[in-house]
Amino acid sequence: MSYLRGRFKKAADKAVTEYTASIPFDWRLYPYDIAGSIAHARMLAKQGIISNKEAEIITQGLASIKEEIEQDKVQFKPELEDIHMNIEARLIEKVGEVGGKLHTARSRNDQVALDMRLFTKEAIGDTLSGLKKFQQALINLAETNKNVVMPGYTHLQRAQPVLLAHHLLAYFEMLRRDTDRFNDCLKRSDVMPLGSGAIAGVAYDIDREFLAKELGFSQLSRNSLDAVSDRDFVVEYEAAASIAMMHLSRLAEEIILWSSAEFDFIELDEAYATGSSIMPQKKNPDVAELVRGKTGRVYGNLMAILTTMKGLPLSYNRDMQEDKEGFFDSVNTLRASLEVFSGMLNSLRVKAENTGRAARQGYILATDLADYLVKKGEAFRTAHDIVARLVSYAVKEGKSLDKLKLAEYKSFSPLFGEDVYSITVESSLAARNNIGGTAPQRVEEALSRAKKIINAD
Ligand code: ARG
Repeated sequence: MSYLRGRFKKAADKAVTEYTASIPFDWRLYPYDIAGSIAHARMLAKQGIISNKEAEIITQGLASIKEEIEQDKVQFKPELEDIHMNIEARLIEKVGEVGGKLHTARSRNDQVALDMRLFTKEAIGDTLSGLKKFQQALINLAETNKNVVMPGYTHLQRAQPVLLAHHLLAYFEMLRRDTDRFNDCLKRSDVMPLGSGAIAGVAYDIDREFLAKELGFSQLSRNSLDAVSDRDFVVEYEAAASIAMMHLSRLAEEIILWSSAEFDFIELDEAYATGSSIMPQKKNPDVAELVRGKTGRVYGNLMAILTTMKGLPLSYNRDMQEDKEGFFDSVNTLRASLEVFSGMLNSLRVKAENTGRAARQGYILATDLADYLVKKGEAFRTAHDIVARLVSYAVKEGKSLDKLKLAEYKSFSPLFGEDVYSITVESSLAARNNIGGTAPQRVEEALSRAKKIINAD
């Protein structure tokens, strides 16, 4: 039985049926589709468009279809194209002709827009709690390693010492912006499209406010053409997901570097590492690599939806059915990445001796030496030049800065005195005592602020 081919004498080609069907992937919209239909039926009855009795039969039928789907008892049919027609056909099968009244004052165009919005709102709630879990894991790791010092890098060259907690809290900030972005996307998803019909609105005295209230929306769409053509909220989710994955991927890259023998800054828990099929010694950071790798597909999904939408005339076009698979994939990928990465962070061990040693080696305190000369009256640019020559000399001599004699220092500037030896990693950290700096006191404050934010959300 097909409700979609009334005007045709021929059945659709089998390949066409398969090619055009969305049921293999849009079946997961069923809870939203059913919730939307129940609200719609109640509204139709309230407005006297169908009788209360009819609405009762329809809503009970829909509720039992939901159970059937949950118990895996419904055999979805590709010839019915999508989840909307599959549910409607099953309803008519169950309750008879009265089921055919459900689609009064409605089109699949506003129906699918509604389902997608309901799905997105729930997905955002889920994403936000995943982001929060991840931020909590960052806080935990920062807190258990509060005094751990490491080299900070620019160009992947040792730059200045920082606290590991400071480094980790940088990611907390990134995820904070991600949280803001998803909350913002939530505002624009929270718009109720039913009543737009196929394109122009519907020719019945419906109550859109009632529908919005029943379905938990705070706003109504204001233009029927826009409402059935708009997938901005999907694009926005995928853009926000891409940025969040970019953040996870950058940390993944650092985890991969840090767990290498060359860095040796961290030890991954065995539950979060994998072995090699040929090299028995290997302990591979596959989880981090896959987070980095999966970022590519989330970007790809964003590019796909942007490209799908760019050439579409108003209003609904079937191309828009392509909004789903990539979107569902991005929601799933981000959820799983946040989940598994949080677990990896919660279980990894920091090798504080190694990060500390790395932070003390080389010429990482050169900026502090220049600052020392500035405090004694030298202009910064001149001080920079003096220290640059001093470093070049020390490199040639094969000495670290703390091993240079005072006379050697003095040969570069008379301003150097005995107190030059009080420049240490600790003094370097403590000196960066402004808001956002790595001084232990500031990091402590940042940590309690982060905890407060997490507990307030
Ligand atoms: N399966 C369709 C989609 O996902 C539902 C809307 C179909 N509307 C239509 N006029 N064919 O976009």
